[in-house]
Amino acid sequence: MGKKLANKVAIITGAGSGIGQATAILFAKEGSKVVVVDRDPEKGSETVNRIKENNGDATLILSDVSKDSDVQDMVKKTVDQHGRLDILVNNAGIFREGDAVKATEADWQDVLAVNLTGVFLCMKYCIPEMIKSGGGAVVNVASEAGLVAIKNQVAYNVSKSGVVALSKSTALDFAADNIRVNCICPGRTLTPLVEEVINSSENPEATRRTLSEDRPLMRMGKPEEIAAGILFLASDEAPYTIGAVLSIDGGYTVP
Ligand SMILES: NC(=O)c1ccc[n+]([C@@H]2O[C@H](COP(=O)([O-])OP(=O)(O)OC[C@H]3O[C@@H](n4cnc5c(N)ncnc54)[C@H](O)[C@@H]3O)[C@@H](O)[C@H]2O)c1
Repeated sequence: MGKKLANKVAIITGAGSGIGQATAILFAKEGSKVVVVDRDPEKGSETVNRIKENNGDATLILSDVSKDSDVQDMVKKTVDQHGRLDILVNNAGIFREGDAVKATEADWQDVLAVNLTGVFLCMKYCIPEMIKSGGGAVVNVASEAGLVAIKNQVAYNVSKSGVVALSKSTALDFAADNIRVNCICPGRTLTPLVEEVINSSENPEATRRTLSEDRPLMRMGKPEEIAAGILFLASDEAPYTIGAVLSIDGGYTVP
């Protein structure tokens, strides 16, 4: 069987850790030329090294997806190097606790800047290059928190609902240009982001249990399980799929 992403040039944001890293490694195995984008040089380099150790094709671009000039620079460097762009995975994201009273304005602005404006900016500058390449696929990583409200994370809930809406809206706007935009809603997945929440809690073991057992499958997801869904939406196996919202959440959002 041929590789699913042979010679496709893919930008993956937040690819230095967790779901983004697993996606970058899977894409490289499937033959993609992977552009690892992260704002953290050490994490980004780790992903690139892991791909290269397995004879994959990866380059690192340091970029903060919430900054317009960084995103423009990221797209220019990608096209200068590879001559085209086929896939964009908007995965970079941050989390802050807090309800509408306790969250600071900085928490609110930071979460929206990375999780929502970052997705907007990356699509804004990548889609024109994908159109020049004859079309392409965008996969935006939202969350179960974009489908149902979860307590004490108001900014995150709002940012991820925004990503769902932004994905559907952009799917309609660029369907005629052969750009497929879709969205994935992971459930709680054991990544460094979630490890940080667990380790900073008062009773990490109890928190780990609670965070695992609040859904029908009674466990957290693995980054590779989310990456498999991202691969499907990004690949030619989903040619008739646009504006879809794919939940991979152990049943958390099943009504
Ligand atoms: N882990 C979960 O339970 C879970 C559940 C649902 C959705 N998600 C979403 O999946 C995505 C990945 O989450 P994760 O758990 O793998 O996180 P993570 O913290 O392990 O990795 C996120 C990566 O993004 C990078 N990053 C953060 N802000 C950035 C910015 N402004 N510009 C560029 N890079 C930036 C970080 O340096 C890091 O390498 C996020 O959008 C997150 O909201 C995660």
